[in-house]
Amino acid sequence: MFIRDIVDSDLENIAHIEAVCSGSEASTLNELKEFFSSKSPMEFFRVLELPQGLLGFIGFSFNEKENEIYIWNLAVLPEYRQKGYARSFLGQVLAEREKLKATKISLKISEKNKIAFGLFDSLGFQVIGKIKNYYSDGSDCLALQLRF
Ligand SMILES: CC(C)(COP(=O)(O)OP(=O)(O)OC[C@H]1O[C@@H](n2cnc3c(N)ncnc32)[C@H](O)[C@@H]1OP(=O)(O)O)[C@@H](O)C(=O)NCCC(=O)NCCS
Repeated sequence: MFIRDIVDSDLENIAHIEAVCSGSEASTLNELKEFFSSKSPMEFFRVLELPQGLLGFIGFSFNEKENEIYIWNLAVLPEYRQKGYARSFLGQVLAEREKLKATKISLKISEKNKIAFGLFDSLGFQVIGKIKNYYSDGSDCLALQLRF
């Protein structure tokens, strides 16, 4: 398995993965380009590349003031799911957390996203809040956090 930092030429593939995995919440190619052009060293964007192509990605950032890592997206193409790739991405986040000595990892997921909930729950993440009507389909979001 090969997880590496994103490069400029990955953005079209990332936009495709976003569209497939995040539906109406997906970032567009232009939004991704804008983000990538102003990415700070404390923003991490990694992709999973296999001979078949790019199969998934994770984006997370470190907020030094809050001593917190925030995962803003994690996605694996449907045909490559349940092979442990998301867990591998999260292993990378945990390794960065250790290096940065962050005291918490946070993210938001849709309350409807039982699969992601199962994944984060298995790693010890706890629900610390809920935001009503957060997503464009009107669904609520759960704020999850893992503390160290
Ligand atoms: C959530 C997501 C990233 C998981 O990717 P994945 O590579 O299939 O995950 P893994 O194979 O590493 O599985 C990790 C865990 O997720 C859960 N999981 C994965 N697929 C599941 C399914 N079909 N049913 C129930 N639980 C499932 C399980 O807890 C699993 O652990 P286990 O294999 O020990 O039982 C993927 O489903 C996805 O891209 N979904 C759309 C985007 C999204 O919801 N992102 C998360 C919000 S940031």
